[in-house]
Amino acid sequence: MSSPDSPSYGGVYGFPECAEGARRLAGALGLPCHIAETHRFPDGESLVRLPERLDRVVVYRPFLRPNDTLVELMLAASVLRREGAREICLVAPYLAYMRQDSVFQPGEPVSQAVIGACLAQHFDRFVAVEPHLHRTGDLAPVFPGRTALALSGAGPIAGRLAADGLAPTSVILGPDEEAGPLAEGVAGRLGLARVVARKTRRGDRDVTVELPADADLAGRDAVIVDDVISTGATVFACADAARARGARSVRVACVHALHTPETAQRLAAADLPILSCDGVPHPSNAIPLAGLIASAL
Ligand code: R5P
Repeated sequence: MSSPDSPSYGGVYGFPECAEGARRLAGALGLPCHIAETHRFPDGESLVRLPERLDRVVVYRPFLRPNDTLVELMLAASVLRREGAREICLVAPYLAYMRQDSVFQPGEPVSQAVIGACLAQHFDRFVAVEPHLHRTGDLAPVFPGRTALALSGAGPIAGRLAADGLAPTSVILGPDEEAGPLAEGVAGRLGLARVVARKTRRGDRDVTVELPADADLAGRDAVIVDDVISTGATVFACADAARARGARSVRVACVHALHTPETAQRLAAADLPILSCDGVPHPSNAIPLAGLIASAL
């Protein structure tokens, strides 16, 4: 699978909170997997330890606790580089800090550019799944001078939904414009109808979702697909809108399940079953990403 432009890696380095994901990716690549040791000092500082020397290495880590992850990744890359690594590829199945790609309010940074430039100093290649890119479809400009690939979660989600079985009248529902390409990708693979709603966000948990006037959901099964579930506000509002239009059932498939156990309980109480991809470890994980990422590498 390697080409002059695609190095053969000697191993995968994971971190304790995503060790299973790192092992699954290493297994799919047929590579050894090493797990970095991390330590948190009482004052909050991080320390990492990566004892294996590797020439070409994949570092696997979703951006859970994004600020700590960022610092620990920079520290980890410094060790690998000092020990002679020539090629370090960061696989961040969930890549944070991508949303703020513009100055929305006076005084704000363009976080995407700041974090991208910082990571580009430490890593040679980047692979992410459904990074939270809202206005740009491409990850490459985020990491100046580096190679970067944004993978779609549509294939794995469609594969899982197909395996579960869907009525041919089912509708794939994107809760907002940004979810349009994902909804399109899932619906296209399954030969199903797709509806994309319009979302108005007034605050972190204050969201309204409006379906197009001609969306026909009466008596049909709706599957909401989205890149991220965080507070759950988007999914709750979208499910309410679908039910108000007579949807027979509503369920959710997301790429990155970032929601808390409390939100998971509320979703369950609202009869909203969730399936998520396994890049972010979560009890709702049911959709493997290792194959997708391994083929991209
Ligand atoms: C929004 O822009 C994203 O695509 C998701 O819809 C959003 O992050 C979900 O967040 P929450 O669950 O807090 O509504």
